[in-house]
Formats: sequence, C-alpha cells, structure tokens
Amino acid sequence: MDKLVIRGGRKLSGRLRVSGAKNGSLALMPATILAPGVYHLSNTPNLRDVRTMSQLLGSLGISCELKDNELLIDSSNINSFEAPYEHVKKMRASFYVLGPLVARFGEARVSLPGGCAWGPRPVDLHLKGLEKLGAEIQIDKGYIVARARKLTGAKFHLDISSVGATGNILMAAVLAKGTTLLSNAAAEPEITALAEMLVRMGARIDGIGTSMLEIEGVSQLKPTDHSTLPDRIEAATYLIATAMTGGNIEMENVNPSHLTSVIAKLEEAGCKIDVNGSSIRLEMDGPPNPTDIVTAVYPGIPTDIQAQWTAFMLCAGGTSRITDTVYHDRFKHVPELQRLGAGIEVHDNVAHVAGGRQLSGATVMSSDLRASASLILAALVAEGKTDVLRVYHLDRGYEAM
Ligand code: EPZ
Repeated sequence: MDKLVIRGGRKLSGRLRVSGAKNGSLALMPATILAPGVYHLSNTPNLRDVRTMSQLLGSLGISCELKDNELLIDSSNINSFEAPYEHVKKMRASFYVLGPLVARFGEARVSLPGGCAWGPRPVDLHLKGLEKLGAEIQIDKGYIVARARKLTGAKFHLDISSVGATGNILMAAVLAKGTTLLSNAAAEPEITALAEMLVRMGARIDGIGTSMLEIEGVSQLKPTDHSTLPDRIEAATYLIATAMTGGNIEMENVNPSHLTSVIAKLEEAGCKIDVNGSSIRLEMDGPPNPTDIVTAVYPGIPTDIQAQWTAFMLCAGGTSRITDTVYHDRFKHVPELQRLGAGIEVHDNVAHVAGGRQLSGATVMSSDLRASASLILAALVAEGKTDVLRVYHLDRGYEAM
C-alpha cells in the first residue's frame, strides 16, 4: 500500500512551477479523434489520468507518447470505436471519446462510467445533447451504443452547466451539419481551451468563454499543435498549503485570471497576494480569518478546491461554513480529517468547520484525488506523524506533489 508519511509543523516557502492542467489534457486528447494526423500537445502533465487517457486512445488505434511534458499523438489509424469498461471504470473522463467518435465515424460504443468516491455522477446531459444532434443512443450491457448517419446542428439547453457534457457535445457539434446553439454551457477554462484548440483545427465556434456557444459545423478538421493551460486547481492547492503553514511562495506558469475567485477568498482569509503576469506570490503569517466559501460553476469557487479549503479553515480562529453546490455529497475527506482531531460537522451540503484546534497526526485514508490533497494539507499542520494511505489517488492529478 503506497503511503505518504508527513511530519507537520514546517513552513512551506520557495518557488514552484505549476504543471499543465489535468482537466485540460483530458479534454484536448480526445479531440484528436476528430481529425486524422499528428498533434503535439505541450505542457501536458505527467499524471496517472493522462496515462489512462493515452491507454484508452491507444485501444482506439491512436498512438500517444509523452516525453518531458510533450505529448505526441498520432490519430491517423483509428481502427476501433469502442471504449472498454476497463479504461472507463478507472476514469470518468474516458466518456469524452463518445462525442468525437460519433461525429467522425457515426458510431461509438462507450462503457457507462461507474460511480465515483462521492456518489453517482450521471451522464444524462451528454446523451440528451447527442440525441438532439441526431444520434441514436441505446444502452447495451452497460455500454452506451451511439449511431448517427450524420449529426445535424440543433439548439440545446444544458439544465446544469456540466463541464463534461459541454465538452462532449461541443466535440460532436463541430462536425455536425449546420448550426448548434449550446446554452448554459460550461465556461470553465478547460472548455475554453478545448474550444480554442478546435478553432485551430478549423472549427467555427462563437461565444468562446461564455455560457452560450454557437457552432457552425464544418465537413472536416485538421490536426494542430496546442499548449495545455496551467492547472488552476493544482495552483490553488499549493497556495492554500503555503497559507496554512504561514509560509511564502512564488508560483510560476499560472494564469491568475483563472483564479480570481480563489485569490479573493485567500485575501479575505488574510493572505498577502501579488499577481504579476503569469506568476503569483503569496505570503501569510499567523492563522487565517474564518472565511466561508460556496462552490459554483466557473468563475465561482471551484468544487475541486472545497476539500482543500476545509483543511485550510481548520487553522482559522473561528467557525467557517463550506458549501458545495456542485456535488452535494463531496465530503469523504471529513471523517478522515476528524481522525486528526478536526472539529467539522456536515449537514446536507454544508461543512461547518470549527477552526483553531491543534490537529495531531494519525493514519488516514485517501478516498479520491482532492480528498487526498486535503489530508496532506492537514498533515502539514498536525503535530507529529501522519500516514496518508492510498495516495495513488494523488498521482491522478498532481505531478510529483
Ligand atoms: C469535471 O467533471 C471535472 N473533471 C471535475 O474534476 C470537476 O469536479 C467537475 O467538472 C465540476 O467542475 C474533468 O474535467 C475531467 P460536471 P464532470 O459534468 O465533467 C451533474 C477533479 O478533481 N451532471 O460538470 O464529470 C453532476 O452530477 C475532477 O479534477 C448531471 O447531472 O463534472 C454534477 O452534480 C473531479 N448530468 C454537476 O453536473 C450529466 O450528464 C457537474 O458535473 C453531467 C453532469
């Protein structure tokens, strides 16, 4: 069992270069299905999830080679349209291959993703959107079977601004015949990055960066090179870690405009922050002010930092409320934090954090990627030794934390 052994009590200080965005790469990689040829995706992070996506694309006949954060993809010889359960069960983002496969080949057989650590994560919006574009969707032995002679543009309103559904439908619409209007679309930077790459491939998309995307389908696309955007969640994780230990950090290769809501909250908590081009400096002395957060779709506070913020507020001199409106049950980290002595009560989708208690080291268990980060952050300030088990979750989203 792989574990991290952490002795708390030290300040974090120094410089750090943020890696490429996991959730950016996981959207850009399936886009290579849309046009045969060779792609160079630079600033690709060397993560377990990227390797899983590479294996999945490999099973379709696409070759992926990652060397020094340069990902070389050749999608010239796609010879299968099936995403097997063995890959999809490891990573929900595998579902992203559905839209491009149906758009390019008119057929796809993709395993339904399982649940995940914090509960069901449906894909109904992905399927409704593809059906609106003319795909016939059936479920066969746990697999989605999608067929379409030719997708045709349509108007589709997303009940929820789902990141994954927006990506899947966008990648289908770019090769559909006619115009698609996607309203209440996700505007996360990773979706914007995907749209920008598709435009470089010859797609016609208006409203990039907004929640209203207008796509004019084209008959074919061509390969392109693209640089993956910096990982805003990784950046936020290290800013919080530094603040918790009362340290200082010079962070490079970030895009501060992707972190506006997080920076505002860190300042509200008492951090001193300087933004300068693609770098962020943070200094913190003394405990943070109790600071409530409510997660929301972009540009709100990302749900992917909710667990890390909960750990941060354990150091505050008072009570904070942490509300997750995106995933109402994403609190698997709480019982583990309680093992370190944390005073947290969860009611519905709100964690009430009583800060100011000295945490003490213990053995804790990771349950998912961001919960692992939260436990490690808490261990940094706990007295004595903490063993964080099952840290393979961490390797999914953090390059060499
Ligand atoms: C993406 O997941 C991210 N993953 C997640 O990051 C992130 O937490 C999430 O967006 C929200 O920001 C990747 O980008 C690979 P959603 P995704 O579809 O696309 C509901 C991490 O830690 N929903 O935006 O799966 C869903 O249940 C990961 O890096 C439907 O109801 O998230 C949720 O409540 C974890 N029906 C809400 O929408 C659907 O068809 C947002 O989910 C799709 C989603």
